[in-house]
Amino acid sequence: MTISEWLKGAKEKIPSLDAELILCSALNFDDRVDIVLYADQEFDFKTADEMVKKRESGVPLAYIVGFKEFYGRNFKVDKNVLIPRPETEQIIISALSIIDVEKFKNVRILDVGTGSGCIPITLKLELNSEGINSEIFGIDVSEPALKIAEENAKSLDVDVTFFNSNLLEKVDSLPDILIANLPYVDMNWDWKSEELKFEPALALFAEDGGLKLIKKLIDEIAEKDSTYSKTSELKSPKFLILEADTSQHDEIIKYAKSKGLNLINHSNFAISFKF
Ligand SMILES: C[S@@+](CC[C@H](N)C(=O)[O-])C[C@H]1O[C@@H](n2cnc3c(N)ncnc32)[C@H](O)[C@@H]1O
Repeated sequence: MTISEWLKGAKEKIPSLDAELILCSALNFDDRVDIVLYADQEFDFKTADEMVKKRESGVPLAYIVGFKEFYGRNFKVDKNVLIPRPETEQIIISALSIIDVEKFKNVRILDVGTGSGCIPITLKLELNSEGINSEIFGIDVSEPALKIAEENAKSLDVDVTFFNSNLLEKVDSLPDILIANLPYVDMNWDWKSEELKFEPALALFAEDGGLKLIKKLIDEIAEKDSTYSKTSELKSPKFLILEADTSQHDEIIKYAKSKGLNLINHSNFAISFKF
């Protein structure tokens, strides 16, 4: 069977783009242009057929092809990590904007709940390209997720330190910027996508309307910050950038305010605070 013939059949079962990306992955094509170049050539489509079957059963494309693009770069993913979402790119934009406004020349950043490592790795690469020195850390409670994050840092050739920590349990001092895209999906939301059932529950769901971990993180930040403030006369401003569903923003902003964090702005899914 030729590529054109195979594609015609596959596109009747799954979306066109998914069929093309599956084909590239199965035949080890680096570029979708190869599909056109080799359109009339015969190949063995056994692997591609198996991948189409998985896609038909609802497995997300990223888990089938093994990667997802985030902020213009490909990140390895598997069933142990959340698939990076386009909306999370707003966190990168918010962090770069804070670094620009505050004129940071050296910046320490900690990403809590790092998953595939897409946030700290992207920030490191973007800051490197702007000539800004950075020390960047990513933490997670999931060992398999940390392993994927480390693999991504290695393949994208960046220096990011990853370690296991339950929220800030293993974090001694607060960095300049804390980032957290923690689980915020409420089990009871009825508009959850079908594909969520393939992603790790540890990366998605939280109690208390989805806010349990976010509120706990805010508590831990407030506690560590008050200890630090007591021992230091010159406290430099610090920042927290969170991702949450827009329906949760008002409650998070109110809670953070009650713990001494001041809202800078909230845009799309991201909320930024200064403290
Ligand atoms: C929504 S995913 C975000 C992954 C990645 N940062 C991204 O934006 O694609 C949440 C991550 O938080 C981690 N996590 C869950 N509970 C945690 C906890 N108590 N402390 C640290 N990380 C946690 C999960 O393992 C998961 O990797």
